[in-house]
Amino acid sequence: MRIMIIHGPNLNLLGRRDATQYGTLTLDKVNRAIRKQARELQVEARILQTNHEGTIIDTLHRRRKWADGFLVNPGALTHYSYAIRDAIDAIGKPVVEVHLSNIYEREDFRRISVIEPVCLHQVVGKKVESYLEGLAFLVQYLQQNER
Ligand code: DQA
Repeated sequence: MRIMIIHGPNLNLLGRRDATQYGTLTLDKVNRAIRKQARELQVEARILQTNHEGTIIDTLHRRRKWADGFLVNPGALTHYSYAIRDAIDAIGKPVVEVHLSNIYEREDFRRISVIEPVCLHQVVGKKVESYLEGLAFLVQYLQQNER
């Protein structure tokens, strides 16, 4: 089973961003935790971080045949990128949306996720655990729903 993980804008700066929202881990450490869990779940994981909306869309397109599912944290693009929403809708692959912070308990503009309606599942507010829980959910879904 193959999972593509996409971190969006500004997540490369984890560790220096607001620790109360995002935790203290750097992106490297988050990725280490994801890779460890992927090994335990016996799935192949590829991880990309990009600050560019178009690269997220290109990755969803290009990896749609390789990946059985996607785990995506689109950062602030979550709240307004209809282009990412359309890409998720178009590829026909399960996508789990994750956020380190609880977007529903922050500023008004963060309370809307335009991708949530086209995602399989959403995990928010658990810091690095959001990724781990999201990955476990996706893998279980794929196992139950034969690829
Ligand atoms: C985030 C939440 C977004 O609102 C914010 O812009 C981010 C990170 C999160 O993981 O909590 O960059 O996606």
